[in-house]
Amino acid sequence: MKIKNLFLIIICSVLGFSSGFFITKKYVSPAQNTISYISPSEEVALAIGSEQVQATPQEIPKDETIVSTQTKTVEVKKPVKQDCLQPKKEYEDYTYLDVGQKVAIPDKTYVPSDLTLIDKTITTVPICLKKDAADAITSLISAANKDGYKIKISSGFRSYETQKIILANSIKNGNKNASIAIAKPGYSEHQLGVAVDLTGLSVKNASATIKFQDTDEDTWLEEHAYEYGFIQSYPEDKLATTGYMYEAWHYRFVGIDNAKEIIKNNQTINEFLKLKNESLNKNSTQ
Ligand code: DAL
Ligand code: ZN
Repeated sequence: MKIKNLFLIIICSVLGFSSGFFITKKYVSPAQNTISYISPSEEVALAIGSEQVQATPQEIPKDETIVSTQTKTVEVKKPVKQDCLQPKKEYEDYTYLDVGQKVAIPDKTYVPSDLTLIDKTITTVPICLKKDAADAITSLISAANKDGYKIKISSGFRSYETQKIILANSIKNGNKNASIAIAKPGYSEHQLGVAVDLTGLSVKNASATIKFQDTDEDTWLEEHAYEYGFIQSYPEDKLATTGYMYEAWHYRFVGIDNAKEIIKNNQTINEFLKLKNESLNKNSTQ
């Protein structure tokens, strides 16, 4: 090879290698809706509001377009966060469905229309409920606090998919009573957005534990929950009627008038709703 050609090859190689350090790529972070201009040859921090997320070169999509020859970070906005799941279509309102062991929600993808995020000071994890139930449980917990009882919500709305995971995990962990403790996906009151699992300081805010039974918080709830429209869905010694073991922590919002009637009649929620819905249907077809 001639000396001149060899010299040209060396110059070209040096130029090509160097450009790798200066070429920057536009990177749109899929999770955060942020755009940054980053260099592939170094680790960069993507500013996301006040947070800093480290993006390594391996995380950079390979098929991005080269848009600039300078490394810079453009202004990024806080990602728009959807607080609660929103329905993707219009559903019938199943708020008062007597959902249970044998009664499924007719549309398994059902998501209530007005899910509201509960104030995080009264929950152990982020929780959404239908607006009426959310307001009522907030009042109930505030009243309990005033009486000296620290109650929190450990579960609220659960989608079909979440319910599926909870049941599968329980079975995987060897729970022989899973079928009478956890509803099948599509069969849970939690999917209606009106059921809550409650906990308290006495059990260190543990979720759905039998230790909650007979605690001071449990006793307060047994006495006062109905005043705010909440009733225990799976009372003691009602397995034959409800199909579920006793759950001291699980309450369903039915509204104050219905709650008073259920207590007066000594019914379970589903006995009450079944009769009430049958009577409403009969009247509407007459
Ligand atoms: N633990 C109640 C039955 C539910 O999973 O909905
Ligand atoms: Zn529950």
